[in-house]
Amino acid sequence: MEEIIKGNSKATTELKKLVNLVSKSNSTVLLRGETGCGKDVVAQAIHHSSEREGDLINVNCAAIPSELLESELFGHEKGSFTGADSLRQGRFELSNNGTLFLDEIGDMPMSLQAKLLRAIETKSIQRVGGKKEIKLDLRLVCATHQNIEKKIDDGSFRADLFFRINVFPIEIPTLSERKEDIPILVDHIINEISLNQELVPKFDTSAMRALQEYIWPGNVRELKNVIERAAIIFPNTIIKSNNVKENLIKISLPDRIEEKEGLWDMTGDLPLTKESNNNLTKQNEDFSQLPHPKHYRKWFDYMDKIDLRRHLSEIEINLIEAALQINSGSVTKSADSLKINRTTLIEKMKKLSIRKINDE
Ligand SMILES: Nc1ncnc2c1ncn2[C@@H]1O[C@H](COP(=O)(O)OP(=O)(O)OP(=O)(O)O)[C@@H](O)[C@H]1O
Ligand SMILES: [Mg+2]
Repeated sequence: MEEIIKGNSKATTELKKLVNLVSKSNSTVLLRGETGCGKDVVAQAIHHSSEREGDLINVNCAAIPSELLESELFGHEKGSFTGADSLRQGRFELSNNGTLFLDEIGDMPMSLQAKLLRAIETKSIQRVGGKKEIKLDLRLVCATHQNIEKKIDDGSFRADLFFRINVFPIEIPTLSERKEDIPILVDHIINEISLNQELVPKFDTSAMRALQEYIWPGNVRELKNVIERAAIIFPNTIIKSNNVKENLIKISLPDRIEEKEGLWDMTGDLPLTKESNNNLTKQNEDFSQLPHPKHYRKWFDYMDKIDLRRHLSEIEINLIEAALQINSGSVTKSADSLKINRTTLIEKMKKLSIRKINDE
């Protein structure tokens, strides 16, 4: 598993522990997490540490047109519909004794959800157009980046199916929750690139710090893209923080790329003042501290535009939800944790459509 999931931050170490634990059992796992955070990677790690003999079979429920998905999952008998010229095994059967990875399960069409539920409950399937029950030794891993609870509320996901798949939920941390992994991930990505490319870039300490300060909405996939971009624009070059901000994350090429060697000397980091040096050391010591509002000033180094209203309301939603969670749904205690009046909290919850976890 060490070779599959890279990183040694606290969050990643916890994740690896969970993967180790769950892979020894046959429980259904539900992987949740933002796009690009490593759901596929964790599914592979679970399969490979499980010692199940069969294959890991992937199905991306969002990528297969819904009219084809049923036969893709359950297979079909010869002649069961026009075009079904021969018997075909579905992905459930192919995953027998192995692991079936249902990716983007939140996109499973409603019409198939009852059939899927039945297959999970009985651990058996019927091919399309067939009557025979085929028993399977099944291990299911599901993944989604969507809010399934919301889909249940609006009627597009069955609650009973959700309870069946939500046996062992694993929340995969975002990259900004495990910034300490960035140097290891960068090394790993550069090693991969060096298999096909002789000259690779090198990130100096200031560049590594700039990578760790960015917020990575696209998570590890976005980091991978940035490093690959670096390998194209700056092979065999020492990259500094300005290059990360100006040329890699914002994607604007240096003015005169042919003179880039000269550019390094000019754009090198200015020496740190005592004060800024202290601030950085403090920041590096504890990533879990509340971000200092001044930190936001840096955001324009990385982005041209920032949706202020949306961002502020997302912060509010997340803090309120977190407060409700640690206070087991108590609005009174949550208001106290957030140092606001109970009535203010209730108003905010209404405005932001935040539901109570349970009644007080
Ligand atoms: N911990 C990790 N160690 C090494 N590589 C990783 C790690 N996490 C993610 N990656 C790499 O980042 C990229 C995105 O990961 P992955 O495809 O698993 O994300 P995902 O959560 O499935 O994304 P999506 O929601 O778009 O399906 C992949 O190239 C993967 O190899
Ligand atoms: Mg994925």
